[in-house]
Amino acid sequence: MTTDARQLIAQHARTTQLLGVDFLPLGTPPAHLSQAPSVQIEQKPAPALRPEFVRSDPVDEPMFAPSSISTTSVPTAGIETVQLSELRAMSDALPDPEARLEALRARYEQDAPHKHFNTTFTSIVFGEGSPTADLMFVGEAPGEEEDITGRPFVGRAGQLLEKMIVAMGFSRQSVYICNVLKTRPPNNATPTSEEARLCAPYLLEQIRIIAPKVIVTLGLPASHLLLGTTSPMRSLRGQWHAFPPAPSASGLMGDQEMGEYPCVQVMPTYHPAYLLRSYTEENRRKVWSDLQLVMERLRIDSDA
Ligand code: URA
Repeated sequence: MTTDARQLIAQHARTTQLLGVDFLPLGTPPAHLSQAPSVQIEQKPAPALRPEFVRSDPVDEPMFAPSSISTTSVPTAGIETVQLSELRAMSDALPDPEARLEALRARYEQDAPHKHFNTTFTSIVFGEGSPTADLMFVGEAPGEEEDITGRPFVGRAGQLLEKMIVAMGFSRQSVYICNVLKTRPPNNATPTSEEARLCAPYLLEQIRIIAPKVIVTLGLPASHLLLGTTSPMRSLRGQWHAFPPAPSASGLMGDQEMGEYPCVQVMPTYHPAYLLRSYTEENRRKVWSDLQLVMERLRIDSDA
């Protein structure tokens, strides 16, 4: 085993112990970790969550919270989104993915699509990681700690996500992590479909620039937005989906636009905040088996 692999395993075990929870389930270890020294991790119940992590992501959550529930809901229906072709032209004039992502962030800050529905955030949390990542994670919206730091997934749900990433054999820096919404919704409300629609062009352009091989959508808002479906998580997870979705399903872009996007394999899975809330062995196994499919797919792709 390489020194890097040993370090990753040690880091995983340390984070595990710090959090007081385990992530790697008891089942078959992934092939690339099969020679790992056995790390005994004390099983403790997940600590109680602070309210900001208790987002609605139950298994059969409707597509997005109906506007009557969302505290952020304001009428946004008639508001035009930025033209995808405009963002594309801007990116394509720049030399590399890093410069393109920087320009896109600046453009997002200038357009501020969140101004139509959110006035209470502190930072814009645009996304971070490798601009050429093979693997991209898309969550819902920043929470309190993300709002303070300006970085996605750094709170408790983020620490669990990082454990998953490390358990998969990646580092946080080698993947790309972002959200559907780039600003924290008041009271951590689940994004409405209208809010997601206003922010979607920037996420789509992030995907086009990075061109990952696989996207893991964390929770329903990201899964529904990118796959153009309203199906419950139980029927989405554990199966591969394609982004962009079929023209009939996609409300995000026209048929012609679709040709401009890389075809990316999408694996929806439970949001880590939901997992922390329902920290059962069954749920952990489900998420881990989704991630194993991702690892397998990336291995196949890199062998090809
Ligand atoms: N939950 C999310 O969906 N995104 C974050 O960045 C943090 C928590």
